[in-house]
Amino acid sequence: MHSLSDPWSPVPLNSGTTLRNRFVLAPMTTDSSHPDGSVTEAELNYLSRRAATGFGAVITSCAYVHPAGRAWRGIGASDESHLDSLRAVARAARGDGGVAILQIYDGGRIALPELIGPDALRGPSAVPSARPNAHTPRALDDDEIDNLLAAFGQAAAYGMEAGFDGIEIHGANHYLVHQFFSPRANRRTDRWGGSLDARMRFPLAVARTVRETVGDAATVGFRITPFESEAGGYTLDDASALANRLAAHGMDYVHISMDNFRRNSPQPEDRDWTKSRQQVESRNPIEAIAEAVDGRSAVVASGGIRTLDDARTALTAGADLIAVGRAALIDPEWVDKIQAGAHSQIRTHMPPSAADIESTLTIPPPMVRYLLSRPGWIPRVEQDSRP
Ligand SMILES: Cc1cc2nc3c(=O)[nH]c(=O)nc-3n(C[C@H](O)[C@H](O)[C@H](O)COP(=O)(O)O)c2cc1C
Repeated sequence: MHSLSDPWSPVPLNSGTTLRNRFVLAPMTTDSSHPDGSVTEAELNYLSRRAATGFGAVITSCAYVHPAGRAWRGIGASDESHLDSLRAVARAARGDGGVAILQIYDGGRIALPELIGPDALRGPSAVPSARPNAHTPRALDDDEIDNLLAAFGQAAAYGMEAGFDGIEIHGANHYLVHQFFSPRANRRTDRWGGSLDARMRFPLAVARTVRETVGDAATVGFRITPFESEAGGYTLDDASALANRLAAHGMDYVHISMDNFRRNSPQPEDRDWTKSRQQVESRNPIEAIAEAVDGRSAVVASGGIRTLDDARTALTAGADLIAVGRAALIDPEWVDKIQAGAHSQIRTHMPPSAADIESTLTIPPPMVRYLLSRPGWIPRVEQDSRP
């Protein structure tokens, strides 16, 4: 797939859809939907403003496929009653002619008990996540797994009916699909767990179900976390093997989710004592995943891309597309300024007050609260440096 690293060249996907350039708005939940999973005006404003700029594609916030998998107060794609809301999101995401992609997810063991009820938490195995105060989920049974696969297919069908050009399966960031792939979260001894092949079974079944539901003319992407840093986690080699199979399953793109796209996979001594340093090289995930998919799917890089130089570096490493999150939160017109060469006009810090962030940058209040709850995550003009 990868040929030129010109950021403004159009990118044709297997589905037949062509992106007008290589920049994509990264999926970002606003955490601010109505309790029934319908979109709010504030979210639509957030999305419309960014989709009105020159992104090649816009990926929505994650939409839940099952009410017991809600990890955010976000949009739903689990019920026919969500169709009108999804239509509004699709219109907003299409903006001035970009490609509109609905991201679908299930939170699995990291769904929020306050949203789903204290006893509804379920995951691949009865193992809590490493997050502070994590609750122990119940292990899903076979029928529930089949129902969840059907729920992913149904959510994708709602998305297409609502007018999206494609679907992104959220297989990253420790949500359910990732949990099935992770030997830390998935301790099953049936067909859904154990060997690498068995742990791939659920992610690949989701990919197959979604592809079969939406057909070949729709864009289907899959987001992965390229390695787990925690002891006993999966490796970049494992994720590359999954990416290879995802490409064989006809994914239009494989989207690599990272906080910092320059970060290499861990050194062997960080994680795998069974292999020598020579056997497990520290490698850049973009290079490794691009090699694994070998042109059969596009590769999307993400994580800390703020400048044109960053984008070029990721493209040179083997990415076909560049997803941009925080930079487009801080400056909603980021991609237009990059395209115009107006680099010095790009806002690099959020305003000091929450109220200014909401109004100047069109970000819904719950999303602002979330951003500010993670110190250092988003650069911010200091209160005391205000003029
Ligand atoms: C407020 C916020 C919400 C996010 N929500 C999602 C989400 O719904 N789905 C997802 O795959 N990633 C989500 N992410 C991760 C981003 O897509 C992206 O991978 C991450 O922010 C790193 O890229 P960046 O440095 O360009 O922001 C979210 C990030 C932020 C800042």
